Amino acid sequence: MNLVVVSNRVARGKPNEPMTGGLAAALLPVVEHSGAIWVGSSGRVRDGNLKEPFAEIESLGAGALAMLDLPAAHYGGYYEGFANSALWPALHSRADLIRATQEDYVSYREVNAFMARALLRFRKPDSVFWIQDYHFLALGAELRDLGVTQPIGFFLHTPWPSRALIGGVPHHRELIEAMLAYDLIGFQTEEDRENFLSYIEHDLGLEVNEGVVRSHHGRMRAAVFPIGIDPQKFAQLAQKAMTHPDVSRLRRSLNGEKLAIGVDRLDYSKGLVNRIKAFDRMWTAQPQLARTISLLQIATPSRGAIEAYGNLQSEVAKLVTDVNGIHGEVDWTPIRYLNKGFGQAVLAGLYRTAQVGVVTPLQDGMNLVAKEYVAAQNPADPGVLVLSKFAGAANELDTALIVNPHDIDGMAKTIATAVSMPLTERRMRWEAMMEKLNAGTIEQWFNDFVEALRETQFVKSEIGPIVTEPALWPVRSSQGARYH
Ligand code: UDP
Ligand code: G6P
Repeated sequence: MNLVVVSNRVARGKPNEPMTGGLAAALLPVVEHSGAIWVGSSGRVRDGNLKEPFAEIESLGAGALAMLDLPAAHYGGYYEGFANSALWPALHSRADLIRATQEDYVSYREVNAFMARALLRFRKPDSVFWIQDYHFLALGAELRDLGVTQPIGFFLHTPWPSRALIGGVPHHRELIEAMLAYDLIGFQTEEDRENFLSYIEHDLGLEVNEGVVRSHHGRMRAAVFPIGIDPQKFAQLAQKAMTHPDVSRLRRSLNGEKLAIGVDRLDYSKGLVNRIKAFDRMWTAQPQLARTISLLQIATPSRGAIEAYGNLQSEVAKLVTDVNGIHGEVDWTPIRYLNKGFGQAVLAGLYRTAQVGVVTPLQDGMNLVAKEYVAAQNPADPGVLVLSKFAGAANELDTALIVNPHDIDGMAKTIATAVSMPLTERRMRWEAMMEKLNAGTIEQWFNDFVEALRETQFVKSEIGPIVTEPALWPVRSSQGARYH
């Protein structure tokens, strides 16, 4: 088998560089070990003959990385536009933030079509394609249009929202119909899968049988594959990181005071504002906790060219300043706020230094930071994870202190509980979470998905071609506009 993994964002395997998001962090080790080829965006754009995609190829462990320059005329409309200003807000239940023009949609489809053409170069008779995330919802359909018959799978790293919410995305029907071209679609949680299938049943009017949908493209199966991490690797990294200068400096600066840590991209889905308000509420309601616990919030800049992200950056920065102004002392800063990233070899040590991990998104596909925080703890004296019930990780890490990120008072109380939790309870909760992490590693996630994708091939050859009405498919006008 020749596995071709496709995503917008790729990682280059430089050990000291921060990862940009969970997708790249998760895929890097599995591509390195499996020998897959990973195709994604180079982060650069190019004018000119787009029929001849330009890819820079380098080796990545046993595998390879192919980074494509994307078409200059369409990149903004695709990335900042349709992917991150229409799909991302809708997938994270923020219909109020959806902003997308018809041109953005056209660019999104053009980049999907461009990627499909580029992938032909990597196709072999035994190829299996695995497409990642919301940037490429229509890529499977584009590949089929080019005559690709090999198995094509898709995994969504984000949540999939209710029918009403996804209905707020322009061209939602056309896009979701295009998704039926995949053989297998993977979701993070059962709720995501149910929401998706509910749309298929009620809005597209197709029959769903045990997660299987039949359309004129054939058979598509929707299943759940919760993404994991490599907990043993993280534990080792964390142990080693304790002597790293950044981690040592942090520990010295604490003077015996306890630390809570938050690590997030600066994204409105991460619940940063509510989290900071919860700390404010806690220090107001329980002033004896001032100087006892402070927060280190790492908020790595993300998608800065998009207005909603720029606004969030200003809002969070102001809030941090206000809260520090109110609760701070000449020799005590309640919130240490950093707008930069750390390599995982340092991050693991920062997690281990903190007695409380605060992961309180308003919506999150999985949230790998939650899992990494747990894996990085000292087994003899583990910290406490405070986890939003709206993170996919809450399904597995159910012995964390689960909070509702909309309930500021509730979060404030729970953080205070975490700070003073006795060792025996901390250990019990932590051991149960570690068991879950060890039972669902990133390697297993990868193997389970690829195995399920390969199986679709056998099912297909057993049942033969499926013939249904081709009424559902995007209308492509012969004169000009390709998408309506
Ligand atoms: N990360 C990192 N350095 C940082 C901040 C984050 O390497 O300074 C990594 C982190 O270790 C994790 C990923 O970025 O693997 C974030 O993934 P998560 O699923 O938590 O959130 P996402 O950003 O994908 O929404
Ligand atoms: C989330 C998305 C990924 C994305 C990452 C970072 O994890 O699911 O697809 O790569 O955020 O976002 P960025 O826009 O910087 O790639």
